[in-house]
Amino acid sequence: MTKITIAIDGYSSTGKSTIAKQLAKALGYVYVDTGAMYRAVTLFAMQKGFISENKKDVNSLVSSLDEIELEFEYNETLGFSEMYLNGKNVEKEIRTLAVSQFVSPVAEIEAVRTKLVAMQQKMGKAKGIVMDGRDIGTVVFPDAEIKIFMSASPEKRAYRRYKELLDKGEEVDYDEVLKNVQQRDAIDSSRKVSPLRKAKDAIEFDNSDMGLEEQFERMYNFALRVIEK
Ligand code: DC
Repeated sequence: MTKITIAIDGYSSTGKSTIAKQLAKALGYVYVDTGAMYRAVTLFAMQKGFISENKKDVNSLVSSLDEIELEFEYNETLGFSEMYLNGKNVEKEIRTLAVSQFVSPVAEIEAVRTKLVAMQQKMGKAKGIVMDGRDIGTVVFPDAEIKIFMSASPEKRAYRRYKELLDKGEEVDYDEVLKNVQQRDAIDSSRKVSPLRKAKDAIEFDNSDMGLEEQFERMYNFALRVIEK
């Protein structure tokens, strides 16, 4: 069967990664969570003290980019790949609200994007890949056979994220999570380099009122139709 590229973009906490992961598994494709890559670079910047509440030292981060080694390693037990930053598993750390608060300002740095986009294009060279992010259908793989743009209301997304963080044992406040979702939407959509926008040929998918099973069914059947064409 021919292998294709599936690009899934959209706002934060729309459930992109959940659906992308399921889709990749069902198709026997590789799944790449590009948000994890931006999060790992952010964690690196935080650890080095390049970014904090009142500080963003772009020059130091850019000149240290060569020191950042990112790798995805498949975890058999979990059934998905985990993010490694310079040899260390950082899967838990990169999902905290602290990292979420700094990731958008880091993701708008051009040199960061250039480095990560090149890595992503290399990973998808052989096709047979489901990649999710913000600029996959517009910048990373403009020729992807399938482009999906996922959206849902900010309140629904904040609630999902809030529940996720609570389940992980983080003490969070719903209003704070909602504020973070709205701030990230604003920065991600208005940044100069590769802003979040729907590719002209992407299919919009609003899942505000759709369960996971229905989302998966629809996407999987659609993917099969494209692959079998
Ligand atoms: O998908 P996520 O919420 O884990 O992504 C974290 C941040 O990274 C998000 O606020 C925007 C940024 N990002 C990006 O700019 N480009 C991508 N391809 C993926 C994520």
